Amino acid sequence: MNPLDGSELRNSDTLVVGGTGNVGFYLVDGFIRAGSARVIVPTRSSERPERLLQRLGPEKAQRIKPILDDVGSVDGARRIRDEVAAVSGELGAVVASLASWHQSSSMLRAGFADFRTVIDTRLYPHFLAAETFVPLLAPDGAYTAINGPAAFAGLPQPAYWGDLCNRSGAEPPHPGGSCRNARTSPGE
Ligand SMILES: NC(=O)c1ccc[n+]([C@@H]2O[C@H](COP(=O)([O-])OP(=O)(O)OC[C@H]3O[C@@H](n4cnc5c(N)ncnc54)[C@H](OP(=O)(O)O)[C@@H]3O)[C@@H](O)[C@H]2O)c1
Repeated sequence: MNPLDGSELRNSDTLVVGGTGNVGFYLVDGFIRAGSARVIVPTRSSERPERLLQRLGPEKAQRIKPILDDVGSVDGARRIRDEVAAVSGELGAVVASLASWHQSSSMLRAGFADFRTVIDTRLYPHFLAAETFVPLLAPDGAYTAINGPAAFAGLPQPAYWGDLCNRSGAEPPHPGGSCRNARTSPGE
């Protein structure tokens, strides 16, 4: 990978949804090192931006523009859009790295309430972020959405998958695979 030489995003404003988070810090830092004039960071918190600014140090902190609001609500997303449009012409890049990851063995086992919470708190904000900020991108700008490691796993396994395998006499499946050593009937 080539190191950033500070010219990649020169004079561009960029925006990191989730810039106060664990992953977001490195995105913000990377955009600054790539020469972004200003990195805009929407946040619901009045404390987390301070932590981000301290981690970046005083020089880089000057190029951060926090906006206090919630991109996960329709009204909040609109207010953020209006403020971004007021302070910045076009965005050279946007990354959505919002909401921490969620783990459960199986959504079917976790139940409807858990499933709905994941949709409400993780997917809706991603949709609203894309709907809000893609129109603010420069013609050659880039929008990136970051998700959890499930993107690298195989197809979701139904909760009853292991039971099906057990009934067929096979070992439990490995991620993304089918029953191993499945017994086959004669002729198969
Ligand atoms: N951490 C890892 O090792 C890792 C690895 C691979 C992928 N990821 C993925 O990277 C993404 C971010 O993970 P993270 O570990 O950086 O999470 P995190 O530290 O919990 O940060 C989440 C960020 O989302 C922001 N956010 C803004 N609007 C939000 C809303 N409406 N609802 C919830 N959060 C909102 C939070 O900002 P405020 O609280 O300031 O509003 C915060 O900056 C997730 O998709 C995760 O699956 C993480």
